[in-house]
Amino acid sequence: MPVPKAELHLHIEGTLEPELAFALAARNGVELPYADTDALRHAYRFEDLQSFLNLYYELMAVLRTEADFADLADAYLARAAAQGVRHAEIFFDPQAHTARGVALGTVVEGLWRALGRSEETHGISTQLIMCFLRDESAESALETLRAAEPYLDRIVGVGLDSAEVGHPPAKFREVYEAAAALGLRRVAHAGEEGPPAYITEALDVLGVERVDHGLRCMEDPALVERLVRERVPLTLCPLSNVRLRTVGTLAEHPLPAMLDAGLLCTVNSDDPAYFGGYAGDNFDAVREALGLGEERLRELARNSFVASFLEHDEERRARYLAEVEAYDFR
Ligand code: ADE
Ligand code: ZN
Repeated sequence: MPVPKAELHLHIEGTLEPELAFALAARNGVELPYADTDALRHAYRFEDLQSFLNLYYELMAVLRTEADFADLADAYLARAAAQGVRHAEIFFDPQAHTARGVALGTVVEGLWRALGRSEETHGISTQLIMCFLRDESAESALETLRAAEPYLDRIVGVGLDSAEVGHPPAKFREVYEAAAALGLRRVAHAGEEGPPAYITEALDVLGVERVDHGLRCMEDPALVERLVRERVPLTLCPLSNVRLRTVGTLAEHPLPAMLDAGLLCTVNSDDPAYFGGYAGDNFDAVREALGLGEERLRELARNSFVASFLEHDEERRARYLAEVEAYDFR
């Protein structure tokens, strides 16, 4: 069994495997512009974040009913469980669905059919994080937060994703203030393609507690020092970085330097159906490409639970951490 770990950076829509995409397309009478799953897999060659996002949003057309979202989440949980995931904090993109005429309630209730019983079915505790699309307006984000109020017992926090460059965090100051007032946890993608200044802005203006990606902090030593001092977790996604060409090859990934600097790094899968692997695959990939030893791998697994939003259940966190310490890598 792989080392126990928490997945903290996972877009549920990014777990849509080609086989399930075609099955849902058939179920819903949706025509996909690909002959078959092989043809679709061939389209998984990305130049950058935007070229991925184009396909990611296009394929969402097959997700229409509660059952679709439940099947999507169940398929993810099964794969995650096999890779040692014990706790998952799962992103979803409500605006990408409401814009297509799928009600927010359909999305949340559908996901909840799977997540509400994930401990019994897959041995994974789960939480939901609702992301705002940063290339949409701040007003749309605020409307989305208001529309989500009936479902807040199922949503632990808010995040910020989609096309980063040109959409700085400060654009969403008001909606993050409103989210904080509702007691929601706050995270944001920053420093994936965008500059280190976006990371600083996410911390100072949005009050985020974790930074998703945060890779480009390495360009700013003062920022690194701050992230270390304030113990701000970074949810790195190594396979994603290679596929979206934010790093050249896995062997060049700054993860070892980031750990050496004392950053609280975690390893996650982002959009595993598109980027070649789930959480355990990302662990295996960095282990091989970067030659990480047992203590570094244990640190990454430990960090994932340290950075989890488990403050409501510290006993559980302690149990997961004990599993990590007891894990035998040989
Ligand atoms: N939405 C899904 N995956 C994403 C990523 N890696 N960056 C920004 N937005 C996303
Ligand atoms: Zn992401």
